[in-house]
Amino acid sequence: MCGIVGYVGQRDAAEILLEGLHRLEYRGYDSAGIAVFGENGIAIRKKAGRVTELAQLLERQPAIGSVGIGHTRWATHGAATDINSHPHVGGNGDVVVVHNGVIENYATLKDKLQERGYVFRSSTDTEVVAHLIAHQLEELIKLGDDPTDVKTAVTAVEASIKVLKGTYGLGILFRDLPGLLIGARAGSPLVVGVGKGEYFLASDSGPLVGHTSEIVYLSDNELVVLTPDEMKLTHRDSGKMVPSIQVLDQAAADSDLGEFEHYMLKEIYEQPTTIENALRGRLDDDAATAKFGDVNLTVQQLRRIDRVVLTACGTSWHSGLVGEYLIEEFARIPVEVEYASEFRYRNAPLSETTMIFAITQSGETADTLAAMRESQRKGHSTLAICNVVGSTIAREADGGIYLHAGPEIGVASTKAFTSQVAVLTLLALYFGRIRNMSYGAGQRIISHLRAMPETIQRSFACHDAVKEVAQKYYGADNFLYLGRNYNFPVALEGALKLKEISYIHAEGYPAAEMKHGPIALVDENTPSVFVIPRCGLYPKVMSNLEEVKARKGPIIAIACEGDDQIARFADDVIFVPDVEDYLQPIVTAIPLQLLAYEIALLRGCNVDRPRNLAKSVTVE
Ligand code: AGP
Repeated sequence: MCGIVGYVGQRDAAEILLEGLHRLEYRGYDSAGIAVFGENGIAIRKKAGRVTELAQLLERQPAIGSVGIGHTRWATHGAATDINSHPHVGGNGDVVVVHNGVIENYATLKDKLQERGYVFRSSTDTEVVAHLIAHQLEELIKLGDDPTDVKTAVTAVEASIKVLKGTYGLGILFRDLPGLLIGARAGSPLVVGVGKGEYFLASDSGPLVGHTSEIVYLSDNELVVLTPDEMKLTHRDSGKMVPSIQVLDQAAADSDLGEFEHYMLKEIYEQPTTIENALRGRLDDDAATAKFGDVNLTVQQLRRIDRVVLTACGTSWHSGLVGEYLIEEFARIPVEVEYASEFRYRNAPLSETTMIFAITQSGETADTLAAMRESQRKGHSTLAICNVVGSTIAREADGGIYLHAGPEIGVASTKAFTSQVAVLTLLALYFGRIRNMSYGAGQRIISHLRAMPETIQRSFACHDAVKEVAQKYYGADNFLYLGRNYNFPVALEGALKLKEISYIHAEGYPAAEMKHGPIALVDENTPSVFVIPRCGLYPKVMSNLEEVKARKGPIIAIACEGDDQIARFADDVIFVPDVEDYLQPIVTAIPLQLLAYEIALLRGCNVDRPRNLAKSVTVE
């Protein structure tokens, strides 16, 4: 996902923009650039590569000024090259644009602009936006409008975005308006930081940290006009708006690496705290149930729910799969877990007693947002289970439950997964207790949940064993991950972690499914990771493990402390604390997170910013 930063004020724009781009690096990108308004017009510095390389370019070729825009690009249209990096110039330099999103009708617009003589330098959809605004500006000037009048610039932008199809978050500079910065949003997040004699524009709150404690979250179809002393907000349909200035949660937005080498490792080790945060204030001992603040539905409405749909992507889909087992076991309500990208087009027959949850760490995933909007369009109330406060999905949902996990910077989701599972456990407890779950059963679940932070802390004792296993198998080209029941989603999650940061091909399966094809993949070069904690299905998983062993497949077992059988069958064993089966996903995920991390390190991969990936996928 691309990142946008903008600044208008009295200070050195380039310095503020670079710092902001560093804070947005976690989103994943392949090039970076800035444009700064200086004495001689707008200076542009941009190139493929890391933000540090852009900073080195700026040391050689400074861009001095106090107004500017910056961008980290995650390529959607066009390769990761200097010329395709943002900012992009419109016309003869009249307009300079940075963009996050996808313009779906860019090809048609490009043809029309080329017919009008506009020369394109890049193969991006963003350059179309730049030329389009320049063209609208020229048309207005031909009609006698003043190019140095802010109104002319605003009209040119409004006329341009009217014809755009797709999604955009835009930062725009105008050559004839030195102290002006315009932002516009439709489908890609944008926030405004409110300073004293200065304003900030950004894709999320990270770049604002340390500069301001006041933030405005733009909504779709809003346009903001910023000068050092003024912010004007308008909506495409409702016109002038009064900005809703909120307090920026610095802690939630800030994110330092601390003593850790990578954000992913820091976030893995944060999980005792993040699980505590997910549970805080939500365990009701007196009623032996869970309680939530922003679900916005009455007990009567919730009691009538006779079907639950959990829609998400990636890791969040895996936590949803755990949620399916939890809610069906605790509350006896049928649950479906839907890939958001499929669910939004499937036109599933839902009734008014179907409850839909969108599960998302970032709150900006385009597919999940679209699935939620489609459900709402059909009259279904949709709740969000989300980590980022003020994100689009969190704000548009009919209610929701925040993870309170703090910023998750590593592209590979870790603490968000376990926090989502914790919240889904609370939800299952709640639904169970307004149905047939006994008081005593509720008390037991609460007691087991309360012990989880300490249990997770103990699970880190496996890290040394994980390092040994990583050392042994990091050269493998293929892995299988296998588990049953609550640990089947964990097998999927473990495979995804390994894939996305070590680039090793890995597949997760229900352990019993091995026999129906995947076992053909087993040979002495294909390690199989069995998630085999103590539970009723242990003998069944053991049978599957022995089927692999019989075919000389190396076996790595994630097993419970005290299991004195497993070492006779597995080549390597990683022990974790023994917990109730429904809480195992929180514990068994941790060695798999660490295994992916250690293998990726040994393979020299960029653990926090793996190739081709973005932290939040805001394109469909
Ligand atoms: C997980 O490690 C990946 N980074 C990815 O699958 C992610 O979970 C997915 O894109 C969904 O993101 P979200 O939770 O922010 O919606």
